[in-house]
Formats: sequence, structure tokens, C-alpha cells
Amino acid sequence: MLSQRRILLIVGGGIAAYKALDLIRRLRERGAAVTPVMTQAAAEFVTPLSVAALAGEKVHSALFDLTAEAEMGHIQLSRVADLIVVAPATADLMAKMAQGRADDLASTLLLATDTRVLMAPAMNVRMWGHPATQRNLAQLRADGVLVAGPNDGDMACGEYGPGRMAEPLEIVAAIEAALADGPLRGRHVLVTSGPTHEPIDPVRYIANRSSGAQGSAIAGALAALGARVTFVTGPAAVPPPDGVAVVRVETARQMLQAVQTALPADAAVFAAAVADWRVANASDHKMKKDGSGHAPVLEFAENPDILATVAQMGSGRPRLVVGFAAETDDILAHATAKRARKRCDWIVANDVRPETGIMGGSENAVTLITGNGPEVWPRLSKEMVARRLADRIAQALQ
Ligand code: CTP
Repeated sequence: MLSQRRILLIVGGGIAAYKALDLIRRLRERGAAVTPVMTQAAAEFVTPLSVAALAGEKVHSALFDLTAEAEMGHIQLSRVADLIVVAPATADLMAKMAQGRADDLASTLLLATDTRVLMAPAMNVRMWGHPATQRNLAQLRADGVLVAGPNDGDMACGEYGPGRMAEPLEIVAAIEAALADGPLRGRHVLVTSGPTHEPIDPVRYIANRSSGAQGSAIAGALAALGARVTFVTGPAAVPPPDGVAVVRVETARQMLQAVQTALPADAAVFAAAVADWRVANASDHKMKKDGSGHAPVLEFAENPDILATVAQMGSGRPRLVVGFAAETDDILAHATAKRARKRCDWIVANDVRPETGIMGGSENAVTLITGNGPEVWPRLSKEMVARRLADRIAQALQ
């Protein structure tokens, strides 16, 4: 899959730099050529000798290296690759990238390049959560930088949380997706997925039976066609696919915010089972039995309709807006009415009566409703439904 591909790998200075060695090995196993660049700090964590030995190429590290400049100038170096991968992308490197600074070889290459960049951030959980880093992240995403990870987990510094660099194979999958030749290359597609959780109190919530399987499969199928995918997911049972930018949310209101932040997009697929209502009188404290025998009464407020909001945007509306309609009766009539009411372009309608086993199951039987009317698809695995839908989206965006 990666044969004939050249990756310019920028290794930043963090403890996760050791994983860059495995990443090089995995890339070369798949036939990719790796041109390694190390920051000065990276050399404190792994030796240039190990990196060069695994890459089978010399390591570039100094901006003012006359021999290297004579062989290949840094501008040219920034352009020879099919993809630039920054792993680990430290908080400092991200800040430099976001600001367009060029005070060492790595940052200069990143500024001079017109090649796509994929970064795998790795840092302490507090550094990751810091507003400055999150600002830089948002800026870099807006600049079109692809992001793999970070993952949640135990960190070398002893803390727990997001900030751990994605595993080498996850980064490889993101690289493969970024380099996938497909009809959606250069397109940005937004996908919502999973249920939302609407809190009742700090320990209880209202949810639904959506597993997120169909949304994950759709995001994966779109990425496989070369799209840059932003995957906004509620707390789903099925993990997100590799090679997509994942934004995790809990509530409908958070999902709307994440969707608005991720726009603009060429297409948006709203596969999430968003709670229509939230608990208006949710408690800040755990509700306790008071012994009176009276149960608390929950009041509900309507959640924003994310699909309708995006479908009815003036400027900045994605060219193709696809909604889902999970129905238990009069499927076609309800779904057709929903398409008109929400003003989306397509509706993927499905029958979610419990006896179909679709909600939470591995198969789906859908009817695609477009401006040309309904098309009944056969019962297929959720992966196959996803592939067909992704193919249709690619055709529509041509
Ligand atoms: N949707 C959304 N935001 C909401 C509710 C739904 O984005 N607050 C999206 C879903 O992701 C799906 C589509 O709208 O793509 C249909 O959702 P559904 O809940 O079936 O539609 P409703 O408008 O809630 O209609 P009803 O409850 O009458 O079935």
C-alpha cells in the first residue's frame, strides 16, 4: 500500500520519540521510503544513529548544514515527500507550526512545504488540555493538518489522560488513509455518530441504544476513499475507525458545537442518534431518595437539531448534507417528510423495530431517499452500507 511512497518523518523531542523507531520500521515494512528529520531535542531521546539505521537514510537535523544544503536544500527537502509526518508532535512543535515559525530545520521544513502534513501529538495531559495547545490544535486543523491521536492512557510522566502518542500502527493507518488514492482525495467530510448522553445528575444520564457501528463504518469508508474525515462521536460502543480526526462529545449541545467548529466541509453525514430532549432540571448533585416515597419528576427541554441547523445554514453549508431516519413505522413516509422538514439532501432511512436487530446489530436495511425519490437497498452488513454510501457521496461531490 505504501510502496513508492516517500514519508518525511519529523521526530520531535518527547519521550514518545522512541515509538518513532517502530513507526519507521512499520513504514519500511510496507514499502515506504522514510527521510528522517530530528529536532535537537529529539536527539536527547533517541539517537540519530538508531533512526538512520532503521530508515536506511541519513538523518537531517541542522538548518545550517552546508554539506546537506549542497546535497539537497531544505526547501527541496520539504517538497520531496508524498506526506510529512510529525511524530511525536510536541506542544512546542505544534506551537511553532501554528505560528509559522522557522527557527530550526523541522519548523522551516514545515513552513516551506506544500505537501500535506499529518501529526501525532504527544505530551503531558495538562499540556494537551491547556487552552494554548487546544488553540494551536484548532489552528492547525483549520490549516488542513491531519491529526492522529493522541490516545488516552497512562503516560510516561505518571499521569493519566489524553496526550499519549497514537500507536505506530494507528499512525500507519492514518498515513495510509491520507495517501489513499481515491475519489474523495482533497475533500473534507464530517460524520456524526453514536448516541448522546444527557445528564440527569452527575452520575445518571439518558441515552439510547445506538452503538455507533454504522457511523464508524461510514467514516472509515469515506477515509478509505481518500477523504479527510472529522468524526464527531458521542459515547459509542464501537471504536472510531483509524485515519480520521476524532472529536468526542457527550451531549447534543456539545455535538452541535463540535460540528460547527469542524466546518467547513464538502459533505456532512449525520449518523448520530442525538437525544431529542435533555433534562432541563438536571441536578448538579447526585439525587438522593428522601424516604418520602416520591420519585423525582424530570422536566425536558428540546435539544438543538444539529442536522437541521447545518442543512439550513446559508453560506458555508456543506454541498451535500445527509441525515438518517431511524423509524419504527411508516418508514418511507416519515423519512420523506423528515428530509423535507430538515432540508437535507439525502436521508438514509432504516427500520429500527427491535425484531429487525438493526439497532446495536451488525447489519442494516436502508432506503436512500434523494431528490429523485427512494431507493431500497438490500439488507447488508453495516460495512457494505457504508461503502455504498461513501461511493454515492464521492459521485455526488465530483
Ligand atoms: N439529528 C440531529 N440532531 C438532533 C436530532 C436528530 O442532528 N437533535 C439528526 C440525526 O443524526 C439523524 C436525523 O437528524 O440524521 C434524524 O433524527 P431523528 O431523531 O430520527 O429525527 P427527529 O427529528 O428527532 O424525528 P422524530 O423524533 O420525529 O423521529
